[in-house]
Amino acid sequence: MELLWDKAKQYIEVHCPEDLPEIAIVLGSGLADVIEEAEILWESPYKAIPGFPEATAPGHKSRLLLARWSGRKVFFLQGRLHYYEGHSVEDTVFPIHLLASLAVKTLILTNAAGGLNPDLELPALMLIKDHLSFFLPSPLRGPNNEDLGPRFPDMTYVYSPELRALAIRAAAEEGIRLDEGVYAYMRGPQYETPAEIRALQRLGADAVGMSTVAEAITASYRGMDVLAISSLTNLGAGLGQGGLDHEDVLQMGRKAGRDLRLLLGRILTEL
Ligand code: HPA
Repeated sequence: MELLWDKAKQYIEVHCPEDLPEIAIVLGSGLADVIEEAEILWESPYKAIPGFPEATAPGHKSRLLLARWSGRKVFFLQGRLHYYEGHSVEDTVFPIHLLASLAVKTLILTNAAGGLNPDLELPALMLIKDHLSFFLPSPLRGPNNEDLGPRFPDMTYVYSPELRALAIRAAAEEGIRLDEGVYAYMRGPQYETPAEIRALQRLGADAVGMSTVAEAITASYRGMDVLAISSLTNLGAGLGQGGLDHEDVLQMGRKAGRDLRLLLGRILTEL
């Protein structure tokens, strides 16, 4: 059976002159600069990759890069696909299926998110230990292809305990504060209301954002080890002063980028 991402896979195998890496990193809002120090070996705009849905979120570039960083070869997805852009949830995980079919084993997801703890000093980094996906149609809905993963995948260890322990060690070595928490997915594109933020706090969430969860579910289903880090760029609506503004989110993301770059660099050397 031909799969949606087969042509994209062939395209990369034909056009990329390098051996393909086993690690991929998805860069979230305001975090594109994290790769400043990486040596870029190959890149392709998403547009050139057959079947690749087009990313349109402001603050997101749209390229697949192969780069060397901290001694490791890594795929970078600079720009991700969001459900709020109008993509189906299946489309938003196209890149993850593509990476899995290219034999990527370790997926590191980054995002910008709102913090739900009013005592947070921003910007801050949060390691995702679990998520709430209630508001997301499942990316695995529909007939299951048993060659890709099980019909009813276990979600107990979506975020690899080994990788989480490694990330916490790496953060301590770099002197970076990294708390673990639960990430709640909201569909967006509107930010949450203060009532929604209070409800999410009661549900046990520590951060809220509009991405990552579908990707993590898909990657886990495909047997990848997943690590996910949120850059907390603002307090959830109603927890801080005034309203929320996407420009502030991008700016705070860039500020958090320095710590994230140090942390990811260290994680890569230890992987
Ligand atoms: N809510 C949802 N998504 C976000 C936020 C937020 O407060 N901040 C950054 N992404």
